[in-house]
Amino acid sequence: MTVSTFFHVLKSRPPLRLLAQLSELVGAVEAELRLQMSSDVELVEQIGALTLGAGGKRLRPALCAISAAASGGVVTKERIVRLGACLELIHMATLIHDDVIDGAATRRGKPTASIIFGNTSAILTGDVLLAKAMKLLAEDGDLAIIRMVSAAVTELAEGEVKEVAVRGDYLLPQEDHLKILRMKTAAFTECCCRVGAMAAGAGEAQIQALGLYGHHLGMAFQIIDDILDFRGDHAKTGKPLATDFREGQATLPLILLNDTLSQEEKVFVEEKFGNGVSDADLAMIIRWMTERKAIQKAFLMAEEEGAKAQGQLAALPKSEERDVLHSIIEFVLSRES
Ligand code: IPE
Ligand code: IPE
Ligand code: MG
Ligand code: MG
Repeated sequence: MTVSTFFHVLKSRPPLRLLAQLSELVGAVEAELRLQMSSDVELVEQIGALTLGAGGKRLRPALCAISAAASGGVVTKERIVRLGACLELIHMATLIHDDVIDGAATRRGKPTASIIFGNTSAILTGDVLLAKAMKLLAEDGDLAIIRMVSAAVTELAEGEVKEVAVRGDYLLPQEDHLKILRMKTAAFTECCCRVGAMAAGAGEAQIQALGLYGHHLGMAFQIIDDILDFRGDHAKTGKPLATDFREGQATLPLILLNDTLSQEEKVFVEEKFGNGVSDADLAMIIRWMTERKAIQKAFLMAEEEGAKAQGQLAALPKSEERDVLHSIIEFVLSRES
């Protein structure tokens, strides 16, 4: 999916004027990202161009920009573009690192940086992107935002470490898994919304509401991501099927399926978990997930998070931007990519 199509897929179409304004903002973020990707080191430029060129929804800069407007505050376009580019650079760096961690061959429908250039180059270029994000934060110069983004990126990185630490744990408790989702994904979506509101000089109540909106949206987003890992159409997600299961990473669909399995079935699934499962066995496990309503239950949990995100929007002044935040929840719950 390209930048320009992201807002166009929202169910309740934003008014054309707002659509044009938001698309222009995200377009400006894109231009800033291209500038940031330039480097005297050829390999960095190549990996930067690959990552940028592969597309992506640019959800995080969009959340930042819309949160700024929906908070009722005011911010210059220059700041929101710089901060949005900073957040997307962080996101891209974490994806490059994540694909090394997960041994993923494709992302956004293209071969990953680690597949093309090797793990070492991918990891180091991810570090370069993180450093560039730090530079943009410093240029913006708002200490409260710097503190908040640093804390969120720490939480994200610790979440990835925590997830790796439980890899291979077939009986991972649901609570522990949800904590990982909070850390690796929701902390950062919360951060993106907060950054926008803080930059716009919003009041504490609005910042808090947008932060909680971002948190619940992030939880819904990652639960859907985990469902798509099993059930998604590879052509649409651009990611390989069942990476989590193949890598021995227990996620909600598997955790919920486990509650429905007989002892014998559990032994069968556990044996395949992170252990070179065949396509036929995988297809059967995924079929069980559907038949025994594990997917449906996971989806309901995502919907609950979506409803909580929606609940936070009431604290914001009525605006077209607030309606866009509502549409983003619908998009996240129905997304296929
Ligand atoms: C992927 O995020 C990583 C997760 C937190 C699940 P996105 O699905 O927003 O990735 P892109 O940027 O659109 O490719
Ligand atoms: C989310 O984890 C990625 C980050 C928070 C960096 P996943 O490993 O579940 O995401 P995908 O499915 O690879 O995008
Ligand atoms: Mg991954
Ligand atoms: Mg991962």
